[in-house]
Amino acid sequence: MATAAQNDLRERSGRYHFPPGFQRNLLWFALHKFRPANPILLFQHLADTYGDIAHYKLAWNHIVFLNHPDYIREVLVVQNDNFIKERTVQRTKMLLGEGMITSEGEQHRRQRQVAQPAFHRQRIPEYASAMVDEAIRVRENWRDGEQRDIAVDMMHLTLNVVARTLFATDLREEAHELADAINRIMGLYNFLVMLPAAEWLVHVRPPGLAAFVRARKRIDAVVYRTIEAHRRERSNSGSLLDLMLAAAPERSPASEQSLRDQVITIFLAGYETVANALSWTWYLLSQNRECEHRFHAEIDRELQGRQPAFEDVPRLRYTEMVLAESMRLYPPAWAMGWYARNDFRLGEFFLPAKTTVLISQFVTHRDPRFFPDPLRFDPERFIPEAKARRAKFTYFPFGAGTRQCIGESFAWMEGVLLLATLGQKWKLALVPGHRVEPEPLITLRPKYGMRMLIEARPGRNAISEPPDTTRPHVA
Ligand code: HEM
Repeated sequence: MATAAQNDLRERSGRYHFPPGFQRNLLWFALHKFRPANPILLFQHLADTYGDIAHYKLAWNHIVFLNHPDYIREVLVVQNDNFIKERTVQRTKMLLGEGMITSEGEQHRRQRQVAQPAFHRQRIPEYASAMVDEAIRVRENWRDGEQRDIAVDMMHLTLNVVARTLFATDLREEAHELADAINRIMGLYNFLVMLPAAEWLVHVRPPGLAAFVRARKRIDAVVYRTIEAHRRERSNSGSLLDLMLAAAPERSPASEQSLRDQVITIFLAGYETVANALSWTWYLLSQNRECEHRFHAEIDRELQGRQPAFEDVPRLRYTEMVLAESMRLYPPAWAMGWYARNDFRLGEFFLPAKTTVLISQFVTHRDPRFFPDPLRFDPERFIPEAKARRAKFTYFPFGAGTRQCIGESFAWMEGVLLLATLGQKWKLALVPGHRVEPEPLITLRPKYGMRMLIEARPGRNAISEPPDTTRPHVA
């Protein structure tokens, strides 16, 4: 691999061909133009000004931002071997350690192989009843006319779903504490990733960062307790945690740490994303009453007042289209970043090793070339014919290539079942005056939560079956 000095020399000698972009270093722009805390504004500006590909420098680092399906495919699929996760992803190791999202090469391959059976097509249907059970608990807890922060409810709901389905564990007692600790960390995240030597600082614990360490300890305590309980019970349910335990070498501090990293990664990846997708969906439905009406009509027609089940999912097509359109406008994973190992070519451009490549679902999903009238909420964009007409890699909420989301099928089923179960009985309206703004943290959260008014659907109060507690926990 070329040294920094060699790279500089090549650059000066014109070996590389950079795309158009900022002439000044981004630090200047960050100070003059953009709030550094909102990178989406920067990405949108780059796409609006330079089009499909833009280049800038941050200090001595080359960065390219891509906004065209051909370039995106090159990086995620065709030249994927040349890229590893970029620095801000690497820095999530402060929380996630070396789990599937942050690991690379052989370690990543091994972790993915161990987890894969839990996400296999044949396993997914088993999870459906636990998902619906958890949604019914929430549904029966809501009261007509009350105001709730739906973002909090969705976080607790999806956290319980992941705990029950993948880890065969009941975390209802701990859900508040866990979600609270994760919120603390999320709140500090944007500050932490900008901080030089943050990894070292969290060990030193200056005031301000102590909260991060405390929150991480609370999360670790729950994770280690879950692992220990599984060991004690010699659980052999075939859950993801069983698979991870079976693959762990002899007990040692390193293997315990590695288990912890793998568990916390799946937890975080598996509940935050779905919870955000659902919060944004309830919001969008509340703003588009015609779509909401079609959503309710489909649930009533297909379920006839029954509790939804796995077999219903393919029939709830409009519900799935609503979810797809919601993740177009508010993709929970709003950007991805890669770091080039070697020099590489993108179209007519030739770029040096160590270039960072950024891609934003948020920006590409709102490009009018791919989605006309992009700000309009229109689930019809996802009828099969419309999907077939669109170029691949214009819509990629779950990424693509070797690092594509392992939980994609799980997430689609969960999203559809939870929306249908809750929508059977309730209609949600945004509390007047509540401010709604996306906040790009590790995932795209509603910055001020999502305060909504819960209204019983006329004639739907009859749907009040209690959760089926006789059914064993799935997985
Ligand atoms: C709406 C829900 C979800 C969205 C939008 C989403 C999105 C993504 C994206 C974009 C990636 C690729 C990240 C990258 O390449 O940098 C990813 C990876 C991953 N996701 Fe998801 N995800 C969702 C749900 C889930 C669920 C339910 C689980 C597990 C239960 C999960 C587990 C993972 C894991 C472990 C990875 C890392 C895969 C790897 O690197 O091999 N995700 N997800």
